[in-house]
Amino acid sequence: MKNKKIITIDGPSASGKGLLAKELAKQLNFILLDSGLLYRAYSYCFEKAHNHSEAMELFSQLKIDGVTGAMAVYEKENNITQLLRHENIAKAASKLSSLKETRNNLISFQRSLASSHGLIADGRDMGTVVFPDAATKIFLIADVEVRAQRRFLELQNNDQGVNMRDLIEDIRLRDEADRAREISPLVPALDSIEVNSSLLTPHEVLNKVLEIYKERIKEI
Ligand code: C5P
Repeated sequence: MKNKKIITIDGPSASGKGLLAKELAKQLNFILLDSGLLYRAYSYCFEKAHNHSEAMELFSQLKIDGVTGAMAVYEKENNITQLLRHENIAKAASKLSSLKETRNNLISFQRSLASSHGLIADGRDMGTVVFPDAATKIFLIADVEVRAQRRFLELQNNDQGVNMRDLIEDIRLRDEADRAREISPLVPALDSIEVNSSLLTPHEVLNKVLEIYKERIKEI
């Protein structure tokens, strides 16, 4: 039985998943799961801990707020969400995310967010592994140059100086690692619909996905 209340959005880095997920959550009043942020938060904990059980202990002490429409992570009273958006954390998360221990540690928390309220799940393996029963599965792609340009602007807004050529290379390497890993690789679910956002505005992507969602829930 397919779950009408879950929309999964998977795809490579900077394909526009985050913005799409946020807008969908707002429009449909669903909860938002930014699974990449969880992998980043786990990596942040792992750096302090050096082994998985200690990392998990630290991770469970973080406060993760997803109900506000944009997921936020707090360490004690400090909002560390922006800190987790740094490229060095992304690199560490990319490495750690290929390990079975990391993925096992995060899966139940991700699944616990599914409820009658509805969930938009953004990541790499949302439709294939975490929520295989989701009724609507989107695989969002875009050309690597377009994605690098988007990430460039995002990082500049976050006061991080980056070089465009390095950024394209980093994105390529991270995508390759996500696609090639043995556990939960970045692949489209068989029942997903591919959307290419290279030539679309965020608004057009949102409308397209809302149409797909309406069709999908009608079919069930
Ligand atoms: O999406 P974001 O760039 O924040 O994700 C950071 C890293 O976490 C990715 O490079 C990817 O390796 C990993 N990740 C993952 N599975 C997910 C979400 C993110 O492996 N569902």
